[in-house]
Amino acid sequence: MKILFVCLGNICRSPMAEGVFRAEIARRGLGERVEIDSAGTSDWHVGEPPDPRAVKAAGTRGYNIAHLRGRQVTRQDLAHYDLVLAMDRENLDHLLRMAGPEHAEKVRLFMEFAPSAPEDEVPDPYYGGEEGFAYVLSLLEEAARGLADHVEERLNGPGR
Ligand code: 4NP
Repeated sequence: MKILFVCLGNICRSPMAEGVFRAEIARRGLGERVEIDSAGTSDWHVGEPPDPRAVKAAGTRGYNIAHLRGRQVTRQDLAHYDLVLAMDRENLDHLLRMAGPEHAEKVRLFMEFAPSAPEDEVPDPYYGGEEGFAYVLSLLEEAARGLADHVEERLNGPGR
């Protein structure tokens, strides 16, 4: 199964989501069966490492994302991935326009996988302080558990 996380810059939310979800999938022994990447709707930070605040906040919780590099989402991504998960509705609208009717079903809000969380979008921490990054990480961890449950069901079939 192939999953892509998408935000605006690909230097804060989506690389943190990638790091958190990769760890959750590895913990469940599914690392070989799930392809994971992240991208941005903009080209503003292509080739750049994640924001230092994102690297630090993720590192504090044991996720190493320092090696990741920004890239922009492409039409081919919409064809290649099984799920393309937007951090907020602006990203979602952008992706739905790119996807067209053929691939619209793959495009969802990541926070759909955390129905009990206090947010249905992942707020952009870029213009705030470090505490915003810690808050975003907590949201991402909750959604990553829900998404990993969903992936396990899709890989194994329900009830197994
Ligand atoms: P991200 O955060 O979409 O979570 O990576 C942002 C990164 C950069 C900018 C905005 C949001 N920016 O304006 O450059």
